[in-house]
Amino acid sequence: MSQERSDTLVLFGATGDLAHKKIFPALYAMVAKGTLNEPVIGVAFDPWDPAKLQARARDGIVNALGSIDDKIFARLASLLRYVSGDYRAPATFEKLKTALGSAERPLHYLAVPPAMFEVVVQGLEQSGAAQGARLMVEKPFGHDLQSARWLNRVLHLVFDEKSIFRIDHYLGKEAIQNLLYFRFANSFLEPIWNRNYVESVQITMAEDFGVEGRGRFYDEVGCIRDVVENHLLNILLLLAMEPPVGRSADDLIDEKVQVLRAIRTLTRDDVVRGQFDGYLNEPGVAPNSPVETFAAVRFFVDTWRWQDVPFFIRAGKSLPVHATEVIVQLKRPPLDVFDPIKPGDCNHVRFRIDPQVAISIGARRKAPGDDMVGEQVELTALDDSKGNMPPYERLIGDAMNGNGQLFTRQDASELAWRIVGPVLGDTTPPPVYAPKTWGPAEAMAGFGPPNGWINPAK
Ligand code: BG6
Repeated sequence: MSQERSDTLVLFGATGDLAHKKIFPALYAMVAKGTLNEPVIGVAFDPWDPAKLQARARDGIVNALGSIDDKIFARLASLLRYVSGDYRAPATFEKLKTALGSAERPLHYLAVPPAMFEVVVQGLEQSGAAQGARLMVEKPFGHDLQSARWLNRVLHLVFDEKSIFRIDHYLGKEAIQNLLYFRFANSFLEPIWNRNYVESVQITMAEDFGVEGRGRFYDEVGCIRDVVENHLLNILLLLAMEPPVGRSADDLIDEKVQVLRAIRTLTRDDVVRGQFDGYLNEPGVAPNSPVETFAAVRFFVDTWRWQDVPFFIRAGKSLPVHATEVIVQLKRPPLDVFDPIKPGDCNHVRFRIDPQVAISIGARRKAPGDDMVGEQVELTALDDSKGNMPPYERLIGDAMNGNGQLFTRQDASELAWRIVGPVLGDTTPPPVYAPKTWGPAEAMAGFGPPNGWINPAK
């Protein structure tokens, strides 16, 4: 596959929720910036016409952005085509082939459930629409190691690895880019970024809402598969990886894979699960479902740099705030020269991922007054979010340009499942927690970083 830009975007699942909420607003933003001028062919089962797809796209854009510029939307609408049909029917792919016209390097974006990947990929191959093409696939990429391997085999029958782009939209977030940049564009971090200075690392992804009508999907997945195995593990990799030796996509991904290889496979003792009170009443959720809506997980990275430093990840629905944050907690100074420093009141680096983008250094300084008594302060670089590129815009652009740096490579996709494998599918009912609390208090007692969890503020 050459590095040439894709000359058409084919969007499978064009009438679906993801297209409505995220993909059309991203395409609109790309058109506004002049970074998308290629035809976009929506494909889906619904017997719509292009006008109906345009109306749906418009609605999604207005919902996401609050307003719309008619001239920009008219440009996007002029690029939009629609092919309707069953993904199992060869006729659908014949229609797609006709719609592709003289396109030589389409990007096929599978915003459809993974159960459809095989049938779509086969349809693409049989119709000739896979020729010269790239493939972008949505998460979840499998539901365990075996299914991920199987999916990889299915995709590789038709597409080579360099032409496959497995999405984890977290990797497209500005704050995640910033984390990577901050780590490797500053020299002051390197001497302390290891087991000699770092006591623990904690990553919290808190959502103050429930499953929002996605009960059926969520109940097949649960918190660990939904966000821990992918989004949050990816953050851990960026925190723990060695500096890449070059700038290519593989240089970066190779280093992440080294960390994945070094992460210990989890055991049930490494996990506390919880379920928010009321989950069982959500539409689509099975009666007595044992699926977790909260998980706290302890990882160890068995490398020279990180041996014995615990990395904790905590995520959940119906928690008190909506925020994602990383705290890298440094060890305390060897002596309390002035006042006694409370455990946990020492240096840390805080990466705020969502909703704001910020990096803070936690430090102690003398509190004003006669005594040599200190107080905890934070020095913060807060990003006002102006100019932040939403993840889908960045990732669709990258895939069209053949840049795989922010996507999950085959080996990484399988290693991540290897790590979480033993803690998936636990059928023991998880302890229940009250909505707007930080998970099941009793089960969480004593489980966490040495100096406790630091709850992100709103
Ligand atoms: C998705 C999960 O991948 O990420 C959702 O399926 C979760 O359950 C979402 O809410 C969070 O992403 P963001 O970017 O909206 O914070």
